[in-house]
Amino acid sequence: MAEVLNGLKRTALCGELTKENIGSTQTVMGWVQRRRDLGGLTFMWLRDRSGIVQAVWDGNKNKELFDRIQQVRSEYVLAVTGLVIARTPENVNKDLKTGEIEIEVTDVLILSESAVTPFEVNDSVSVNEALRFKYRYLDLRRPSMQHNFIMRSKVANITRNYLDENGFLEVETPMLTKSTPEGARDYLVPSRVQPGTFFALPQSPQLFKQLLMVSGFDRYFQIARCFRDEDLRADRQPEFTQIDMELSFVEENDVMAITEGLLKRVFKETLNVDVQTPIRRMKYKDAMENYGSDKPDLRFNMELKNISHLVQDCKFGVFTDAIKNGGSVRAIVSENSSDKFSRKDIDSLQEYIKTYRAKGLVWIIKTEEGYRSSVNKFFTEEEFNKIADFVGAKNGDIIFIVADKNNVVFDALGQLRQEIARRLNLIPKNSFEFVWVTEFPLLEYSEEENRFVAVHHPFTSPMDEDLAILDTDPGKARAKAYDIVLNGYELGGGSIRIHSSEIQNKMFNLLGFKDEDIMERFGFLVEAFKYGAPPHGGLALGFDRLVMLLAGADNIKDVIAFPKMQNASCLLTGAPDVVEQKQMDELFIKSTATKQL
Ligand code: AMO
Ligand code: AMP
Repeated sequence: MAEVLNGLKRTALCGELTKENIGSTQTVMGWVQRRRDLGGLTFMWLRDRSGIVQAVWDGNKNKELFDRIQQVRSEYVLAVTGLVIARTPENVNKDLKTGEIEIEVTDVLILSESAVTPFEVNDSVSVNEALRFKYRYLDLRRPSMQHNFIMRSKVANITRNYLDENGFLEVETPMLTKSTPEGARDYLVPSRVQPGTFFALPQSPQLFKQLLMVSGFDRYFQIARCFRDEDLRADRQPEFTQIDMELSFVEENDVMAITEGLLKRVFKETLNVDVQTPIRRMKYKDAMENYGSDKPDLRFNMELKNISHLVQDCKFGVFTDAIKNGGSVRAIVSENSSDKFSRKDIDSLQEYIKTYRAKGLVWIIKTEEGYRSSVNKFFTEEEFNKIADFVGAKNGDIIFIVADKNNVVFDALGQLRQEIARRLNLIPKNSFEFVWVTEFPLLEYSEEENRFVAVHHPFTSPMDEDLAILDTDPGKARAKAYDIVLNGYELGGGSIRIHSSEIQNKMFNLLGFKDEDIMERFGFLVEAFKYGAPPHGGLALGFDRLVMLLAGADNIKDVIAFPKMQNASCLLTGAPDVVEQKQMDELFIKSTATKQL
């Protein structure tokens, strides 16, 4: 039976007992990791957030205590009191922080019993994902998970301290609000009081933080929850957290410097890693040309090479057609890999990039005896030599080539580059390669909507040099926008905002917004800007992504306490769920879906 504490006080955390405590009597409280009986002695590992400690007792000494301890099973919650003693040298456990000592038990109180858990609470067992998330509270008991959340909390504290020291005010902005301009689908909340109307949950605090600049708050930050109804990925959740900032009287370099200072502090104080600042910068155009991605992973090389000029007159129609249609032919070189990739592997790489819309993958293997290739019949040895020389291929290397529209070529080769690096283990562990990607295009033409859409959002300022081409060639205009990229992840993004109503109106026109749309969607911001808006800009870091990379996790679910699954549902609570008809009626909502209570 569970007993109450009855005034018993915890004197130490399990994981913190060391040789220093030898000779003292301590009371620890925690969960039973495991119990073992060995020749009259019973050993038990007790776990709390700080770690694990071994408790031991001699069954012959105290029969009543022995009987009580016999009831104990895994995951029972105990208070264990005893004398801290040194382990004999042969019994020292180097894998445990507390491995040099153990507790010689004098008393045990069972605080709570546990049913047999659906899986063993232990980092060394791999557990089916559905089970992990259904019993997330048990999953979170595992030391590796606790480590992630200790890290998360620490990063939040470092962030608050750093931003506070740098003059930022922490301000909360509404959750029940109007649609924001980040471009994903909104989560909507129906209003009971105003029938037929809806709040949108914020995709980010973007508009509010700009209003706070108009209010003269000068520097704002918030560790802000954001909601976006979009497809989930390893680094994307529908509900996530940003370290969101906005600053007045600044230009790009100021926002970048503040961000670099924050990252430097966070990496130093969590991993003792020195981030070299200033962080290197790369123009969007160069990132795409060389890495096929606006978030290049710079932990390894394997850059893209444009070989269009070498093949524009070749006999292989796929290449020449792509060029004629305004696309290009580009290559990457997978070094020393002809003996590592079999034909089957190469076929699987081809299948892999088809998911990124590439129609095929040409391969050319350079060997001492000449070339082997999927397009042997179209090319002479001399032509192959030219290509190999241009891309710098040596014997034993494989050249991979994709021909298509530029965006397809970039995406497919960018992804292939990453996949080859994974398969050949080219990515060094524990390395952190930061890069700022700058000079993003301001606008992007949407075939679907038949109009320009903002690449960042409609309040992002064009570059001064490109103001003139807004009227003549707006698709070429670049923005005062920047992304901070780490190891191939977009860690954060931001921009300098437009604060002149003339440029803002021009931007709205380019985006094809009608006056009534503008007033309806962002009227309050446009209105606010009439009353003295300071020049301002900001950035938001993906807090979950940052913690994921610091914790060495490969999915943000591992650093979010109660995340959503692939289908945006919560396995633990069963949300989203149908609701009572009465609630629907109160909200003037009628469902056309088939699933009902
Ligand atoms: P942006 O949309 O680029 O900018 O978002 C900023 C950062 O938030 C993270 N992020 C996400 N993390 C997890 N799951 C998601 N679904 C998700 N979506 C975005 C990314 C991203 O870089 N208001 C602007 C910022 C600004 O201009 O100041 C904004 O939200 O790491
Ligand atoms: P085929 O003549 O169809 O056998 O194609 C010869 C080679 O060209 C194969 O390796 C195909 O994968 C490749 N291929 C086809 N289309 C493309 C493309 N758009 N880009 C690169 N390689 C392609």
